[in-house]
Amino acid sequence: MRILGISCYYHDAAAALIEDGKIIAAAEEERFTRVKHDSNFPKNAIDFCLGEGKITSNDLDYVVFYEKPFLKFERITLSFLATAPYARESFVSAYRMWIKDKLWIKTAIGSYLKISPKKILFSEHHVSHAASSFYTSPFKRSALLTCDGVGEWMTTAWGKAEKNKIHLDYGVKFPHSLGLFYSTFTQFLGFQINEGEYKVMGLAPYGTPRYVDKVEKLIHQSEDGSFQLDLSYFNFHLSDKVSFNDKFTRLFDVPPVDPKKSNRVVKVYADIAASAQKVLEDKLVVIAKMIRKKTGEKNLCYAGGVALNGVANWKIFKEAGFKNVFIHPAAGDSGGALGAALYLYHHILGHPRRYNFRHVYFGDKNKEEDIRRFIEENGIKAKKLSNDQLENKVVNLLYKKKVVGWVQGRFEWGPRALGARSILADPRDKKIRTLVNSKIKFREAFRPFAPVAVYEDGEKYFDIKN
Ligand SMILES: [Fe+2]
Repeated sequence: MRILGISCYYHDAAAALIEDGKIIAAAEEERFTRVKHDSNFPKNAIDFCLGEGKITSNDLDYVVFYEKPFLKFERITLSFLATAPYARESFVSAYRMWIKDKLWIKTAIGSYLKISPKKILFSEHHVSHAASSFYTSPFKRSALLTCDGVGEWMTTAWGKAEKNKIHLDYGVKFPHSLGLFYSTFTQFLGFQINEGEYKVMGLAPYGTPRYVDKVEKLIHQSEDGSFQLDLSYFNFHLSDKVSFNDKFTRLFDVPPVDPKKSNRVVKVYADIAASAQKVLEDKLVVIAKMIRKKTGEKNLCYAGGVALNGVANWKIFKEAGFKNVFIHPAAGDSGGALGAALYLYHHILGHPRRYNFRHVYFGDKNKEEDIRRFIEENGIKAKKLSNDQLENKVVNLLYKKKVVGWVQGRFEWGPRALGARSILADPRDKKIRTLVNSKIKFREAFRPFAPVAVYEDGEKYFDIKN
């Protein structure tokens, strides 16, 4: 049985193909169009998945979309009515987009793939996130946590999963959202929402969390883990342009960062980033502890855009009491494409689980003739090496403090460079971060990199056991 999962029209459009529950291909549309976070209908990713499966759309048994558009439109409409007439401008622009494209996703899928509407199904946004994590994890049973900006209504959800069934029973609904809370700081600090969140995380360790008391005013958390934002500080429910308001700005007593002036290097903004990061971590740990207590499970599967915050993930792993934590590599909305397909196959159709992740290399690969042509067309000096020669060469270059661009095999599923498309440098030298940043145009000095060590040296370099 072949199922194609699709996500699009918000950010990070993607497609994923599974055959009898096994992942054949999965890729974000941005990898083909080279438009970062491309949200358009993922024609290229779909074509790639079908090609990788050596099938045409006629061979598909089902196509699943990762969320329910009418439920999402209901949320947008009711939110407007609740705040009318304040959000009129943003509602009109959203309404136009929904009427034009987003509501008619079934038609878009049907006409592109030329398949019967009966084969096109829909999964709920947070169910797709949870499914992406549990069904690719090595766990037979697990607690579940999803957290993002917003799906249809849900922004955070939790529950448990066993064998091939997942149950997402509890949650927090829009406008109360940890993702939107963090995105508001992202914009206040001069970064782009849905793009710059990891820069806030990267800026945070350069600051001191001296504004935690102020940030705590924005969000109230109950003992059961649920939380509410104090909406009097926010604007994201009233405008699609600015997420914070004057009261938010007055709270920190500094103007928002002007991205053109790069004044975010001023220490106060690093302190605000540190404070927002600390509060996010604290709230997530409370939620995860509560899930651990309620479910009694020793494993946790976690997904959603907020699960791309690696520092907060570490806090959950360390403090929430779970023995094992599995985070889906495409934790954001792209991962929903795979999650929706797996949810249909296992939960709805009842097929047992037979596979989990052994790697994340489900993307396209460069053919040798393409590489050769690229080298020739661009007049690049090149030399073909054997594998042994290549490894020696790269190690020697790294020793000499050189920066190496490394491309091998199929590209990664999800936003992280994990050795298939990576920039390599020796992390033991403190100056190397500046060197790598200086080699890549427009990168701020505080932007982080992921250190890599061989498995046997893991405990030597990282604060981690086993
Ligand atoms: Fe999401």
